[in-house]
Parts: sequence; C-alpha cells; structure tokens
Amino acid sequence: MTATQEPDLSTAMQVVYQWSYDSDIDRLRNLYLKGVELQWAGERDLPWDTQIDMAKFESTPISSTVPFERCSYWRSLPEETRWELARRGAAFRLSNFLHGEQGALMVAAQLVNAVPHMDAKFYAATQTMDEARHVEVFARYIEKLDCVRPIAGPLKDVLDSTLATGNWLHKLVGMQIVVEGLALFAFRRMRQMTEEPLLKELLTYVSQDEARHHAYGVTYIEQCVPTLGDADREELEDFALHASQVLVGSNNEQGLMAALLETISDLDIDVVELIECVRRERDDITAGMPRIQQLGPVSGLVIPTLRRCGLLSERVAQRYHDFLAGQMDPKLIGDSLETFMASIPGLPEDTAAWVLGEV
Ligand SMILES: [Fe+2]
Ligand SMILES: [Fe+2]
Repeated sequence: MTATQEPDLSTAMQVVYQWSYDSDIDRLRNLYLKGVELQWAGERDLPWDTQIDMAKFESTPISSTVPFERCSYWRSLPEETRWELARRGAAFRLSNFLHGEQGALMVAAQLVNAVPHMDAKFYAATQTMDEARHVEVFARYIEKLDCVRPIAGPLKDVLDSTLATGNWLHKLVGMQIVVEGLALFAFRRMRQMTEEPLLKELLTYVSQDEARHHAYGVTYIEQCVPTLGDADREELEDFALHASQVLVGSNNEQGLMAALLETISDLDIDVVELIECVRRERDDITAGMPRIQQLGPVSGLVIPTLRRCGLLSERVAQRYHDFLAGQMDPKLIGDSLETFMASIPGLPEDTAAWVLGEV
C-alpha cells in the first residue's frame, strides 16, 4: 500500500468554552438554521450512474484565468487528444479543489473549538459537515474521470498556515475569505462553463454551500473587526494579503502550469507551441470574458470581501495594488491607488444567486 498520510502538522489552538447558550448574533443563528435545512446527500442526490459525457466535457475550463482550450493550437488537435487534455487537465484542477476541501474540513472543525460565540460554533459545525460532503463528491467525481493528482505547493502552504495559527480570527480570515473566496470564484466559473451534466449538478450543490460559508465569514468578521486594536487589525490584514500573494502569485501560476504540463507529457502535443499560442492569442481568447472574470479571484472577490469587513486600509490596499500591478493588465486595475480602488467591484448583494449566475 502506498503511503498517503502526511506527517503530523503541529497546530496551536486555544479552545474556548462558551457557557452562555443564548443566541447573540442573530444573523449567524439564521445562517446556521439555513445550513441545517439545506443539507443534501452526495450519494442520494447526484446521479452517479450516468457516464461522464465526453463531448460535453470539453467545455470544462482547466485554468482559472486564461481559457487556453480556446486557442487555435488546441482546437487544431485531433479530437482524441483534446479529450485527453481536457480530462487530465480538469482532473488536475479538481484534485486541487478536493485537497482544498480537505483543508476546509479540518479548519471548519477547528473553528468549532476556537470561535468564542455559540452561534459561530453552531455554524462552523454545519460547515464541517458540508466540507466532508464536498470532499466525498469531488473524490468520487475525479475517480470517474481520471485519478487524484497531488496538491499544489502554494495551496498546501496556505492550508498549513491557516491550520497552524493559534489566532481564531486569522483562521477565519484565511479560510472564509481567502481560500473560500478563491474556491467560490473558481466553482462559479467552472459551473457556468462546463456542459457536462454531472459536474454541473455537483458544482451547483457545492457552490450553494460555499456561498453560505462566505456569508458566515463576512457576517462574523465584520462584527469582530471593530473590536480590534490597530496592531491586531494590521496583523489580520497582513495575514490575508500574504495568503492571497501565495495563492495567486506568479510563482504559483508557473508551478501550476508546470505540474499541469507534467500530467500531459506523454501525449503527442507540442507543449511549447501550446504555451506560445496562448500567449499570442491571449487578447482574442479572453475577449468577451466578463470583467469580473478578467479581474480574477483576488480583485474580483477577495478584496471586495476584505473591504466590506473593514480589512482594507489604505496601507494594505497599496500593497495589493503593487502586487497585482506586476501580474495583471494595467488597464484593468489602473496605475494609481485611486484608480485601483475604483476598479474593485462591490460584493454581490446575494452571493448565492451570484454564484449560480443568476445576477
Ligand atoms: Fe467546500
Ligand atoms: Fe467551504
């Protein structure tokens, strides 16, 4: 049997008992009730017997930013090769969703222990159940499609630091805003684009849960931030910035691309030409993508969430700008802090409707 278990990761976490059982944050209690009511069962509610529809599967995006399945080199490949590329590329991406879900499962379980408010403990308990179901269904889908691929290094780093921190607010921000924000953004895009019926249905169920998890983060964190002193707030801002930089930094992009290419190295394709073709045709293949999609997960969702929660001071906004300016088309974010701030969209009023593309 191959070793599949990682060595122990030591975590420091303070456990908080709460002896008052009264509800003190109504909006969290309501979210908890909603979480209980909307439980679903992966085994019962998804049609696992259906075969994956290969023709429809090709529309599944394998990158979160540039849709390289639209470039002319990709489209010139024989149908069989395109299918293999789509299958393995998607399995690689879905595997990272799966590993992220395992991290979310463990962080949500830690939050039950660590958060001080009873309503927040209740909610984290429903999220723990949700994340277990997400691990279950992603693993099962990948097994039908291909095989589970290893976790990307930067994702593992962010999960480790979120699990390891002893500060429950850092855990909450790392998971509920940064990791969940990226996941929500990616699930939304994949759900919109894929025409494969089983994957679309799976992502519909998962995305509805994730929208609720994001709402938990926003509701709870925006209540807690005003109680923090300047030094604690700055530390929290920096924790979120660092996690975002690790997850979407250019090292991560390059690492992801290298790992993805590794999974297709035995196919008869010219990898250099594929990359060059994407580079040449970048403007054409991204034309028509909604602006929010072009902004990407950090500018499109993580920063708007931080702003809403009171975690986007001018100090940290400048650091986001400087970091993103090196990675994005300047037309999208502008070259000054002012234009950058103006380019950040507001949070959707109804995240559940947004994630399902209804608004
Ligand atoms: Fe999840
Ligand atoms: Fe989640």
